[in-house]
Amino acid sequence: MAADHDHGAWTGWKARAYALFHRNPAASRGVVDWAQLQPDMQILDIGCGSGAAVIAAAPLLSDGAAFGVDPSPDFVRMAGRRARRLSNVAFEVAAAEQLPFPDQRFDVAWSVHATHHWDDLTKGFIETRRVLRPGGRFLIVERHDGDRSWGITSEQAQELSNTMADNGFVNAAVEERKAGRSQEFLISGEKSADD
Ligand SMILES: C[S@@+](CC[C@H](N)C(=O)[O-])C[C@H]1O[C@@H](n2cnc3c(N)ncnc32)[C@H](O)[C@@H]1O
Repeated sequence: MAADHDHGAWTGWKARAYALFHRNPAASRGVVDWAQLQPDMQILDIGCGSGAAVIAAAPLLSDGAAFGVDPSPDFVRMAGRRARRLSNVAFEVAAAEQLPFPDQRFDVAWSVHATHHWDDLTKGFIETRRVLRPGGRFLIVERHDGDRSWGITSEQAQELSNTMADNGFVNAAVEERKAGRSQEFLISGEKSADD
């Protein structure tokens, strides 16, 4: 399904090293808090890596479920292994630009430290909006890292918010929040209630 996406950078030793040393547990817990989950919600993590945010969300979703997609089969395998005791989570190999879910399937979709890797932001945002229910929320977390390659600048955060608005999300906004030792952008938008 995601075979035409270049996930090569996130396979093999690089995926294993990232999962061990750079799982960003504070940002994963952060997005779970910032999403203000209700127990019956259906959640989608786009670019879930080894599953940290999905696994953190699972205990709060006693009547709901959390799904993670990532184009890297290695990450999806790792996430599945880590979550093997959880009955309300599932992972699938897929990319933002082609989500394997029906329309209006989710209450909240988020993407943590991943949108700057997506192949095509516009396609990804259109897909995200499609799988959200009317009124559903889309949260992007990206590290505020100036010109370093693993984060984005304030201008880039504003561009992400503008791209959300251009692709039909309402109430698009940019905030800065602290997660552990790092400063994070929280870029949020909603699918309109009458969309
Ligand atoms: C820096 S890692 C972050 C992983 C995870 N969200 C975390 O916080 O630990 C970036 C992730 O984006 C994923 N990615 C790359 N291209 C993507 C795309 N087109 N759609 C969705 N995810 C993508 C990579 O496979 C990788 O897992």
